[in-house]
Amino acid sequence: MWFANDSHHQLLTKYLFHPRVRAVRSQSTPMVQRMIDFTDQVVIVTGAGRGLGRLYALELARRGASVVVNDLGGSMHGDGADTAVADTVVAEIEAAGGTAVASHDSVDTPEGGEAIVASAVERFGRLDAVVSNAGIFTTIPFEELSADDWRRMLRVHLDGGFYLSHPAYRVMKSAGYGRFVFISSSGGMFGQPLEAHYAAAKAGLVGLANVIAIEGEPHGIRANTVLPFGFSRMVTETVGDPKGLEETGFLKVIQPELVVPIVVYLASRACGFTHQNYSACAGRFARVFVGLGEGWLAEPGSNPTADDIAAHLPEVTATEPFTVPASIFDEVFGVCDRLGIDVFSQ
Ligand code: NAI
Repeated sequence: MWFANDSHHQLLTKYLFHPRVRAVRSQSTPMVQRMIDFTDQVVIVTGAGRGLGRLYALELARRGASVVVNDLGGSMHGDGADTAVADTVVAEIEAAGGTAVASHDSVDTPEGGEAIVASAVERFGRLDAVVSNAGIFTTIPFEELSADDWRRMLRVHLDGGFYLSHPAYRVMKSAGYGRFVFISSSGGMFGQPLEAHYAAAKAGLVGLANVIAIEGEPHGIRANTVLPFGFSRMVTETVGDPKGLEETGFLKVIQPELVVPIVVYLASRACGFTHQNYSACAGRFARVFVGLGEGWLAEPGSNPTADDIAAHLPEVTATEPFTVPASIFDEVFGVCDRLGIDVFSQ
């Protein structure tokens, strides 16, 4: 779903199958086996009827969670509905000895979000973690994007993230514990052609998670995001020639199962951090962060001009050294520090 055209996936495929990249990928590192356990915990996974969401739900249930399997059951473009999509995954979990309940509500209304959270609380009596994963996808050049296309995409991904997390946050706050995993996208964080609406919605979820993380911290609530890559219908329905891509082996490399570990970890009690973003691509798990360069500090009291910016461009545009602010305060206090102002002196 992140390829705009043939040359994009040709480039990626070339990179992944370069002998040096292959050699590094084949060095097997022994995995540390620790039990990430969800016994007595309740987890909501939205969009859990298909693709990556289904795999998150199955693994969470296998590790002991009671799972609310939410899915509207619509098309990739967001049309239609089918209750069988969520029901099938519930049956799959139950057949394996797990516990789950289906929810067919859409995440894209406040009532839908409330109903999904109510499913957890009414059926299982608590809510420990939310994986906000439901999503739709369309490919549209920016100049052809209509206001309706824009709204529809934001309604499902960004409004949906809010409608779900808002009632969930209240339940978690009163219990003094909670985990949010918002499924964002590299398309949003780094850019993806033909996806202005999708990228904006997905990047918006990072902003939402940042603030939930800050406000939730005193209440034991942690919020992180995942930027996944996984072979699903979003990939097959957008690449144009999935058969060609399959022949290169690329689709095997981006098995959706390879995203599951980081989502499950971030949803678990074991997750000891908050306010972070992780990319999961083909078995490579990596932190994604927004860094703040040291920049150029104009002489205090001077009136810097556009010419001064041009004169100091190397410092203004430098990416190193950098810090990763934990909030807006880290940034502004850092500048005040350099200016010799003690914000707390009054
Ligand atoms: P998918 O299309 O296989 O699954 C998405 C599920 O969400 C579907 O079952 C659909 O019925 C459900 N859904 C859609 N709108 C809904 C709504 N309003 N309420 C409740 N359920 C709804 O897609 P996939 O690939 O599994 O994607 C899962 C998430 O990961 C999405 O948020 C997607 O944007 C994101 N993602 C996926 C990537 C990939 O490589 N597959 C890359 C980056 C992000």
